Amino acid sequence: MKRLLVTGGAGFIGSNFVHHVVGETDAQVTVLDKMTYAANREAVDALPADRVELVEGDIAEESVVEPLVARHDAVVHFAAESHNDNSLDDPSPFIRTNLIGTFTILEAVRRHDVRLHHVSTDEVYGDLALDDPKRFTEDTPYNPSSPYSASKAGSDHLVRAWVRSFGVRATISNCSNNYGPWQHVEKFIPRQITEVLEGRRPKLYGSGENVRDWIHAEDHSSAVLAILERGAVGETYLIGADGERSNLEVVRLILTLMGRPADDFEHVNDRVGHDLRYAIESGKLRTELGWSPRFEDFEAGLADTIEWYRSHEDWWRPAKDATEATYAAKGQ
Ligand code: NAD
Ligand code: DAU
Repeated sequence: MKRLLVTGGAGFIGSNFVHHVVGETDAQVTVLDKMTYAANREAVDALPADRVELVEGDIAEESVVEPLVARHDAVVHFAAESHNDNSLDDPSPFIRTNLIGTFTILEAVRRHDVRLHHVSTDEVYGDLALDDPKRFTEDTPYNPSSPYSASKAGSDHLVRAWVRSFGVRATISNCSNNYGPWQHVEKFIPRQITEVLEGRRPKLYGSGENVRDWIHAEDHSSAVLAILERGAVGETYLIGADGERSNLEVVRLILTLMGRPADDFEHVNDRVGHDLRYAIESGKLRTELGWSPRFEDFEAGLADTIEWYRSHEDWWRPAKDATEATYAAKGQ
């Protein structure tokens, strides 16, 4: 893969992925990103200009996508509206970007016979009971709960249909919850860390018993690169690092690591339709492609992430007040 087009490469995981690719390969990378509120220009600016080009544009516009796809060997498709709470407030950008945008990418890779990797989420499978011994596998039926996860499920189905009907050379990955540097302060872990840095209390939705399966964004990146390089066309791979923790446990850990009493948080209004538990069985990826995570110690990864937010206040500060005002209006 000499010439790689990365959609959403200025976002949280996309920018981590581009840093990973620049470090691990000699590929030339073009980032196509609409530079929405979730984009990190600084993360792309920190990359070598002779390896990475940033094109500002919308994946749902064929006139933007077509000429870019035509001059690349592969597309890694991260671009999406990604926040569940926003999708409950206004689903329309989720439908446009996640569905029309993915359709536009698929038509371009079909026309030019370009390899595609589609990045998706474990949320397409719905949720599990807290005491269910099962975890999600590649064979779990789709059952999405929110407008966000339904739009991602729809995008996965489009990719599968384009593989079967048109022979598009695509793979799909469904990953669990990511944490690490450059994640927007609207998301759970950065929100709680920055609340503590602001001298306020973390905010737990509902009871806090909901479980998420945490993976460091760097490990998600290495998995996506492994699938791009060695994955079988037409296949889906689940990405996870055995990191199940309840939200309550995570909040307590953040408070302890930041030198505050573990119970110094508050309960706020729950998310509508809040998924109870996600859990990934990633055996296929590990066995068939030889992938394993580097950040197996969640507490150490979280401590690094806290330090990153402590030393990057200039980056998160401009988004913080507006994000909190939106949450406060909903009692969250
Ligand atoms: P993010 O919101 O941080 O970044 C999304 C990026 O896409 C932003 O840079 C944004 O500007 C860009 N974008 C949005 N609409 C666009 C459009 N129409 N055209 C071009 N660019 C556009 O998201 P993230 O958390 O980095 O997630 C990236 C991908 O990974 C998404 O597809 C998401 O569904 C998937 N994913 C995320 C997680 C997670 O925990 N964050 C887990 C599994 C899968
Ligand atoms: O599972 C993968 C998904 O993980 C990705 O597809 C999404 O793009 C990503 O945003 C994430 O979705 P979640 O909804 O799980 O992540 P979020 O960070 O919004 O919330 C994580 C959990 O924390 C969830 O149970 C809701 C809860 N929460 C969230 C916030 C913002 C709180 O308790 N308090 C909060 O302030």
